[in-house]
Amino acid sequence: MNLALPDAATTTPVRCPHFGPCGGCTSLDLPYADELRAKEEKLQTAFSRHAVLAKAPFLPILGATEPLLYRNSIKVPFGWSATGPVAGFFERRSHKIVDLTTCLIQHPKLTQVLLATKEIVAELKIAIHDARTGRGMLRHLVARIGEGTGEVLAGLVVQAKGYGKIRGLALKLMERLSGDGLVGVVQNIHADDEDHAILGPETVPLAGRAYLDEVSDGLKLRTSLQSFMQVNSAQARVLYGEVLRMLSGSLVDDGPGEGSRIDLAGQKIVDLFCGVGPIALRLARAGAQVAGVEYSEDAVRSARFAAKANGLADRLAFHAGDAAQLLEKLAEGNTIDAVVVDPPRRGLSERLVKSLLASPAKKIVYVSCDPFTFARDLELLAAGFEVAAVRPVDLFPRTLHLEAVALLQRR
Ligand SMILES: C[S@@+](CC[C@H](N)C(=O)[O-])C[C@H]1O[C@@H](n2cnc3c(N)ncnc32)[C@H](O)[C@@H]1O
Repeated sequence: MNLALPDAATTTPVRCPHFGPCGGCTSLDLPYADELRAKEEKLQTAFSRHAVLAKAPFLPILGATEPLLYRNSIKVPFGWSATGPVAGFFERRSHKIVDLTTCLIQHPKLTQVLLATKEIVAELKIAIHDARTGRGMLRHLVARIGEGTGEVLAGLVVQAKGYGKIRGLALKLMERLSGDGLVGVVQNIHADDEDHAILGPETVPLAGRAYLDEVSDGLKLRTSLQSFMQVNSAQARVLYGEVLRMLSGSLVDDGPGEGSRIDLAGQKIVDLFCGVGPIALRLARAGAQVAGVEYSEDAVRSARFAAKANGLADRLAFHAGDAAQLLEKLAEGNTIDAVVVDPPRRGLSERLVKSLLASPAKKIVYVSCDPFTFARDLELLAAGFEVAAVRPVDLFPRTLHLEAVALLQRR
């Protein structure tokens, strides 16, 4: 198989003082080309378990030109050591926190927010939550950067509202870092120690804004900390370009970045699991009429904002709700040329597979972040659709995670 090799300078292993125990990344010690090859093999292994996918045509992986310092979002727990607060990723297969001083995969501005937060937590003697005793307030720091705007948004995940020192921490962070792009600090309330999700149900602003603006491929986007966005902005652009290329029927392997020149005028496309709208907006800009569907109302609000902000509101409608239910509604008496699906790791529900098979769509573009549920769902969809192309895209360099996209055509 051919390999889209990145620049030679980025293929050499690099050193991080935390590499080994730290669970933040896994492959810093490998040349990048080997990592890409292993990812292609992982996808092929997942497909090889399903006889019906034996002839699926694989396109070469699209590797990152910059496989370091790319993560645009962090979610790290706080803990306590003999010398003061610690914060960082968990050690592999453990709940011991690696006290990060640097990180070679996350954006440097996020490391800066992490280190500043830790210092202020020590200065203000903020009580860190301990799930064993139920005492203490601060649980996690979450933060995100919009790479196209440089805006940073931080969130403090706390046990309960109304702890004055948390507001003090937010104000000090703004004082120190607003010159470096910090536009706001929110608090997220997460009181349930049995719930292992990082974010709890309620988020309220503490200082500055509760959202950040981003610009990607010339499109304005808006997001909060609760909504999903791909963690690698540069490779997300490559992935979205591939989605458009597959929809346009142009499978020529002429490298990434062609998405913005593709013409989808007159096409009616449903974008399921649309998040804050990065795919739907690109489809509408290429001329398609698009219905986006997303469970999170917060993300749908951001997507509707972006539709207006980009002058594309007449070609876009966003609906909040379940993908399968809404696809069934949208299919009633309407033409649908194609459907894009980009589900969470668990893949498609049985009901959604049935709705896709029963829909009038002639094409499906399936974006997946889990090769095994991806292959499982493609086998189920093979009852009505043939896999015309599969392309891995490296969205998570230096880790084992793998993103891939497939074009399915009605048999
Ligand atoms: C992998 S993300 C993809 C988001 C978007 N396509 C992007 O590239 O940013 C999956 C999204 O599906 C949403 N979601 C999860 N379950 C859903 C469901 N049953 N129906 C609709 N959306 C759902 C999540 O809230 C999340 O925004």
